[in-house]
Amino acid sequence: MNVSNVKPADGKLGIMLVGNGAVATTFMTGVFMTRKGLTKPVGSMTQYDKIRIGRGADKKYLKYEEIVPLARLDDIVFGCWDVYPQNAYQSAIYAEVLKEKDIEPVRAELEAIKPLPAAFDKNYVKRLDGDNVKRPTPSPSREGGEQIPTRWEMVEALREDIRAFKAANGCARIVVLWAASTEIYVPVDEHVHYRLADLEAAMKADDRERIAPSMCYAYAALTEGAPFIMGAPNTTVDIPAMWELAEKTRMPIAGKDFKTGQTLVKSGFAPIIGTRCLGLSGWFSTNILGNRDGLVLDEPANFRTKEVSKLSTLETILRPDVQPDLYGHGNDEDTQYCHKVRINYYPPRNDNKEGWDNIDIFGWMGYPMQVKINFLCRDSILAAPLCLDLCLLSDLAARAGRYGTQRFLSFFLKSPMHDYTVGEAPVNNLYQQYTLLKNAIREMGGYEADEELD
Ligand SMILES: NC(=O)c1ccc[n+]([C@@H]2O[C@H](COP(=O)([O-])OP(=O)(O)OC[C@H]3O[C@@H](n4cnc5c(N)ncnc54)[C@H](O)[C@@H]3O)[C@@H](O)[C@H]2O)c1
Repeated sequence: MNVSNVKPADGKLGIMLVGNGAVATTFMTGVFMTRKGLTKPVGSMTQYDKIRIGRGADKKYLKYEEIVPLARLDDIVFGCWDVYPQNAYQSAIYAEVLKEKDIEPVRAELEAIKPLPAAFDKNYVKRLDGDNVKRPTPSPSREGGEQIPTRWEMVEALREDIRAFKAANGCARIVVLWAASTEIYVPVDEHVHYRLADLEAAMKADDRERIAPSMCYAYAALTEGAPFIMGAPNTTVDIPAMWELAEKTRMPIAGKDFKTGQTLVKSGFAPIIGTRCLGLSGWFSTNILGNRDGLVLDEPANFRTKEVSKLSTLETILRPDVQPDLYGHGNDEDTQYCHKVRINYYPPRNDNKEGWDNIDIFGWMGYPMQVKINFLCRDSILAAPLCLDLCLLSDLAARAGRYGTQRFLSFFLKSPMHDYTVGEAPVNNLYQQYTLLKNAIREMGGYEADEELD
């Protein structure tokens, strides 16, 4: 007899979104429309997937909610922060992801969601210009036009926001999900990002170069007892100091970067090459994208963050150190296949991204072949169900007493977190990630984790 020791999902679940842009509004609109029975939550694992439990004659395929206590869509309350003041209805219309007919039936619900002022520093996202931002506490030492609060003031204001939202909406639990813009690349600095005490000292010293605003959101969420999920490639919670905070507060963290279009294809297709022992000499990925995300990523410092995230996928699936004959040639140094990723801002396409992959493989006796993949996807349509799954599963993990990096959520992420300080490898292969996901659900449901990861 199986026994789940997960606490029940009683009461309301507050989902506080950092960012009220294309992804966030598509997510919220879809949840509201589903609640009214006007659409289906297609693409969501928590709403559709069925997992085998038991073996042989005892085996059954059950939905997640039949195995573990998941929060219900009816119990979700949304809140958000954004640099722009428009409510979620205005922002959904602006994003042009969804047709008006798919927004109007839930207009009232969306209009009620008004973004709280953002903890924002323009140096981190140069192309944004909104004025719905937190202001510094006035003080004589600030005369001379200091416009943004210190990092520690940001933390305190965000903590207050979370507490107030929770109380005003009668929420039993909160989850904070970053669906805001990609910040510029912040290299991990051992002196600031490795120990919680150093991170806190840097926040208090207002170290603006090494403390990104996103870190203030994560710090505030964890300290207020809310799991934090990073949907962009920002390093935010992918630093040992935040792992320490997650352990201390016993809160789950997950990241980075929603695995939606091109990388989903990559993590699903690369195993075909690897499993079949074919060679790879190069993989060139390019995209055209015209939404605000594309605009932000047109800035080289912001693209750098994305590039690091997108490049990491192949390296752990097709490994030159394990198979030098197959994966040890192709780039300038001739030690690894050549792997390039480009994103081009092209306004006419808006959210309807087009991705091209050119894959140069080789077979028997080194004879070359090519695979071309042309994915005409819709970015936010792919990201919205991931938002739902990441929020519901992080809330589940918290109730199950799981804290720190949630590796079972790697399935949903381009650049899954792992302990790089001890040489732990990330799991990027989609099918292995799915095994991690299924086993975690089984375990939290009180069943045996019965699939080996090899
Ligand atoms: N859609 C996808 O397929 C996909 C995949 C992976 C990652 N992402 C990431 O998800 C994020 C959201 O994408 P999007 O298409 O919704 O972008 P978007 O530009 O439409 O929305 C992002 C919003 O975040 C706001 N913002 C920026 N900095 C903020 C801050 N410090 N505090 C509060 N709000 C802030 C912006 O004003 C904007 O409204 C991006 O970082 C993107 O890279 C998207």
